[in-house]
Amino acid sequence: MDKLQIHGGIALEGEVRISGAKNATLPILAACLLADGPVIVSNVPHLQDVTTMIELLGRMGVSVTVDERMRVEVDASTIREYFAPYELVKTMRASILVLGPLLARFGEADVSLPGGCAIGARPVNIHVAGLQAMGADIHIENGYIKARASRLKGARIVLETVTVTGTENLMMAAALAEGQTVLENAAREPEVVDLALFLNAMGARIRGAGGDKIVIDGVERLHGTAYEVLPDRIETGTYLVAAAITGGHIRVKNTRPEHLDAVTGKLQEAGATIATGENWIEVDMHRRRPRAVDIRTAPYPAFPTDMQAQFAALNTVASGVGTIIETVFENRFMHMLEMRRMGAEIRLEGNTAIIKGVERLTAAPVMATDLRASASLILAALVAEGRTEIERIYHIDRGYEAIEEKFQALGAKIRRTPG
Ligand code: UD1
Repeated sequence: MDKLQIHGGIALEGEVRISGAKNATLPILAACLLADGPVIVSNVPHLQDVTTMIELLGRMGVSVTVDERMRVEVDASTIREYFAPYELVKTMRASILVLGPLLARFGEADVSLPGGCAIGARPVNIHVAGLQAMGADIHIENGYIKARASRLKGARIVLETVTVTGTENLMMAAALAEGQTVLENAAREPEVVDLALFLNAMGARIRGAGGDKIVIDGVERLHGTAYEVLPDRIETGTYLVAAAITGGHIRVKNTRPEHLDAVTGKLQEAGATIATGENWIEVDMHRRRPRAVDIRTAPYPAFPTDMQAQFAALNTVASGVGTIIETVFENRFMHMLEMRRMGAEIRLEGNTAIIKGVERLTAAPVMATDLRASASLILAALVAEGRTEIERIYHIDRGYEAIEEKFQALGAKIRRTPG
């Protein structure tokens, strides 16, 4: 298995271009199942999770072609089966996103239950209950969600917890349902809005996405279209923190600053100067040590759980004590244990981590445990004394495009070694 080797101690300088958002691309590719003509999706990031979603569509018989610029053309008219097998779903939970579209368009879906996940239980009960409220007949058999329906019917659905993929699954299903669906307590993430814009480009009638009440007037059919995915706010945030932790000064291009207010606000609290333009963000840490910040994760527009681990890394070398409270997922602190091995002073109490910044971390062999945890280990390694080796970096490749090339361009000493 490949490893990453990182020599710490260099303040990052330069520019980095952000890729399309993973968490918008995955639902958009799943939503292509709803169209009765070919769809072209551009600004698709070259990531393992995207490859998995393309493979999943391909297994069903959907024609998918990818050109050298990662423009993906999807034509669902060749579909043969409505099936998402365990072997793919277990590698990527977001495979559950095919459930709503398959059921709405073809009246049939057999999708493996995702099962456990490194960052907590992550159930899909809200997806299932919502589809049942729209008239689907669903039962769980041999580890599979077996869903059947004639035409789904619009319903008023109050989501028990704010769930991103749950909101997306129900929005996609409702797009082709008969009558009006109202989703209350909907997720407000920018990726939900991007999916709504994409569905509307295919002829759906969705309003209110970005707020907590989304109203969907079902239509009889959706047509093909061309669509460009929005930039990845978590990749953006990760590079911003990388600059801050190393005392550096970088410009992040091709991004959407308005999606990162909670993150840039915390970086300012940590002592960084932030400047923004229409599609770029600049962070300057003036070669100074960051100040510790307190973080509490919650659904958008609050501080994202997908940036929690990166700020934990920042706090490990900051001046002062920072408290991190994780409210979205249980068991999302595995990176803390690895960072301790690099000399971080971290106390864990349930969903709270109390981090006392140390003057310096020291390199150690560490292991990536999930996508964002891996990112935080890279950040810690960028400031650690000596050479850190990170194992199991396939987690990183699920969500960060060309990560070592991008960091190298910012001056970091990072390289991939085949294991
Ligand atoms: C999405 C993102 C992921 C991010 C997360 C939270 C994608 C592909 N992934 O994951 O990167 O970390 O949002 O911002 O977009 N829950 C239930 N029942 C359900 C569904 C969810 O109880 O049926 C709970 C979960 O256990 C969790 C919370 O709701 O505690 C939020 O999870 P959710 O928003 O669903 O996460 P994902 O959509 O899987």
